[in-house]
Amino acid sequence: MRDIVVSGIRSTGNLHLGNYYGALRNFVKMQEENDCFFFIADLHALTTHPDPAQLHDNVKSILAQYLAAGLDPEKSTIFIQSDVPEISEMYLLMNMHVYIGELERTASFKDKVRKQPENVNAGLLTYPSLMAVDILIHKATKVPVGKDQEQHLELTRRFARRFNNIYGVELFPEPASYNFGSESIKVPGLDGSGKMGKSEGNCIYLIDEDKPLRKKVMKAVTDEGPKEPNSPLSQPIENLFTVMSLVSEPEVVEQYKAAYADCSIRYGDFKKQIAEDILKVTTPMRERYNEIIKDEEYMRKVVKIGAEKARESAAKTLAEVRKIMGFKSF
Ligand code: ADP
Ligand code: TRP
Repeated sequence: MRDIVVSGIRSTGNLHLGNYYGALRNFVKMQEENDCFFFIADLHALTTHPDPAQLHDNVKSILAQYLAAGLDPEKSTIFIQSDVPEISEMYLLMNMHVYIGELERTASFKDKVRKQPENVNAGLLTYPSLMAVDILIHKATKVPVGKDQEQHLELTRRFARRFNNIYGVELFPEPASYNFGSESIKVPGLDGSGKMGKSEGNCIYLIDEDKPLRKKVMKAVTDEGPKEPNSPLSQPIENLFTVMSLVSEPEVVEQYKAAYADCSIRYGDFKKQIAEDILKVTTPMRERYNEIIKDEEYMRKVVKIGAEKARESAAKTLAEVRKIMGFKSF
């Protein structure tokens, strides 16, 4: 059975290898077998008061990066959240069934209160209501989310159940998290530490130009080299092998593993190889990005068609919700 999949994409910052291998590459595969709705969550972005002059450019750039990486408007519904006013209306209705206490207990809310105590706005508190509406308005059955979003998805299920119970209907399915199983991957940073992430400042971006990208990889942390045959890998070297196994041919990985085992490995060559193989993956995406970002006409068409499809689906659910709640036309 085809699932209805919904995923919101944050419109902050550029996409890095971690985003690509951890999420985006799966999105690209998912759209083959499911009815997917992918949208840029620009209303959610407002909770942190972004600069109005930059809001649109951020949305545009991130949209172009997702298209360049393989999200396909012919296969999926790709849209901008704020282009679908039905979402805002249903958000208002949904909030009548959502309790302040449960929102205040959300980990992401507590975290924001700690990080931006000067801007604890109501939108921030009701972030999970809006996210639930994003999902329920298309009656999604699956939602691909990272660990940090699992609690929001749990609340979405709770709100769906509650709505169904209050009105004695079976309107909303309870969405499950989309599980990539053994394919779930953590891309490490090249600074020898934990994961690659924007806040870690250790990212290889999909749109990095050749030269700076090579430079970043050549600066990757290593160690003094294996002292004796078959030594265990230190963390930085293991990280480099993890990245290599994502971007290089299996034979190449084997070759370097063997060179490590017999102590003939030269980290300079190792890193050069990784850089070139990363570029083989990222260059076609960067080139497509450079074309798409110039092509206003194309992007306008993509979001127009996306908004039409998303609105059709959203309007249907909203009409049902209004009817269930008792709104009638005179
Ligand atoms: P970041 O803030 O680090 O750019 P986000 O937290 O916005 O990334 O995550 C966006 C998506 O990318 C999530 O689905 C997350 O699981 C995935 N992701 C981010 N970093 C990595 C990583 N290093 N390895 C695997 N997946 C990642
Ligand atoms: N909250 C998600 C994030 O920060 C983005 C998001 C908004 C989302 N609405 C969604 C994700 C609906 C999945 C489904 O990454």
